[in-house]
Amino acid sequence: MQIVFGIDFGTTNSALSVYRNGSVEVVAVDSNDGSKELMRSVLYFNEDNEIYTGNEAIRHYVGEGAAGRFMQSIKTFLPNTTFEHTEVFGKRYAIDDLVAIILRKLKARGEAFVGCAVESVILGRPVVFSTDAAKDAVAQQRLERAARKAGFKNIWFQYEPVAAALAFEESLQPGQERIAFIGDFGGGTSDFSVIRVKGGAFERSDRRSDVLSMGGVYVAGDKFDSQIMWDKVARYFGRYARYKTMGKDEWVNVPKSIIYTLCQWHRIPLLRARKTTEHIRVIKSTTDDRKAIDHLENIISDNYGFFLFQAIEKAKCELSDMERALINFTERDLFISEEIDKDGFEAINGENFKQISDCIDEVIARSGILPAQMDTVFLTGGTSRIPYIQDLFFKRFGRDKLENRDAFTSVVHGLGSSVPLFV
Ligand SMILES: Nc1ncnc2c1ncn2[C@@H]1O[C@H](COP(=O)(O)OP(=O)(O)OP(=O)(O)O)[C@@H](O)[C@H]1O
Ligand SMILES: [Mg+2]
Repeated sequence: MQIVFGIDFGTTNSALSVYRNGSVEVVAVDSNDGSKELMRSVLYFNEDNEIYTGNEAIRHYVGEGAAGRFMQSIKTFLPNTTFEHTEVFGKRYAIDDLVAIILRKLKARGEAFVGCAVESVILGRPVVFSTDAAKDAVAQQRLERAARKAGFKNIWFQYEPVAAALAFEESLQPGQERIAFIGDFGGGTSDFSVIRVKGGAFERSDRRSDVLSMGGVYVAGDKFDSQIMWDKVARYFGRYARYKTMGKDEWVNVPKSIIYTLCQWHRIPLLRARKTTEHIRVIKSTTDDRKAIDHLENIISDNYGFFLFQAIEKAKCELSDMERALINFTERDLFISEEIDKDGFEAINGENFKQISDCIDEVIARSGILPAQMDTVFLTGGTSRIPYIQDLFFKRFGRDKLENRDAFTSVVHGLGSSVPLFV
């Protein structure tokens, strides 16, 4: 009996499905309070170089006062060709080594579930890792290398929105045919496809001819968090602080590059570079907002960005169900209490929503299908819960066509359903 795993290695969450005997199951991969079917795509290295993943990583990071190294959004680095490797407590890790740690853990959980070794996997990949074709290829090669390091021998790739489409397909009656727009809004990327779906299509066939168009943008949940940081929170860390450069009597602003890095919390440790810490020391000696620069130094040295962004993300998620939310955060002598309302959130993210909206139009146009001819719109991924995102589809297709379900597991389920297409 052949068993194949489907793995959705996501920017925020990862999941695993098992294909055997012609059926697909999504497996519990973490002891998550909310959903056991998801493992946070995070790593924690303690000072003894013990490595933890998922909730265990978060628990250790919190418990050990951030003495070790915490990493998240690792998927984001896959197409980054300037990122070769990182050093953690004297040991070198290439990007595929880091990804392999997560894949190995998922593999082990899956193997414990089925009770035997499994060497075949279908991995999901976004429609675009990068708009630069060379970088896009590098990203997939790195993911493949990671899967090999994790112990997989037979490796296939499926586009994430196609996988979501296959999951949707299973809800159709045999023979029922639909043209569907699939939108997968995750943490790192928003991926789209227009695809012909058929009920009872669990057969070997080349589905590529059913894909009418595909596309994606690098704008999703993480970007919305960053935008809230930039507009609502960065002022606590010196966004508007000024200082005087050596020997001159004019005020200059804290470099945008520092604040910008602060807005992508997983990059905050990069600010520990000597040149930057020295620059910040100079700023501190003349600044008109000493308190903010103290906070800036603290967030870099104490690495509490993770918790700050959790507070931001929490407020963002609340805005999917409520008109207003509070960003609440306390650390040492830093007290943040910022209200954000739904309209404000939509306004500050105008540019992000526009990029998503333009990409949706492009994918529709390239499919050759008129909005009126589209039978179904299937939305998945955590970020699809944002009302404004749903509005983008109401406006184009009307309310009745919208299906929104299994936000976090339809991709991984569809990867399992992809097995007969490859194996
Ligand atoms: N209720 C909600 N409202 C708005 N955003 C949400 C909500 N719930 C989760 N999210 C966001 O969804 C994102 C995670 O979604 P998901 O697990 O689908 O992403 P992923 O698969 O890890 O990422 P990707 O597919 O881009 O690699 C996070 O940015 C999270 O903040
Ligand atoms: Mg995803």
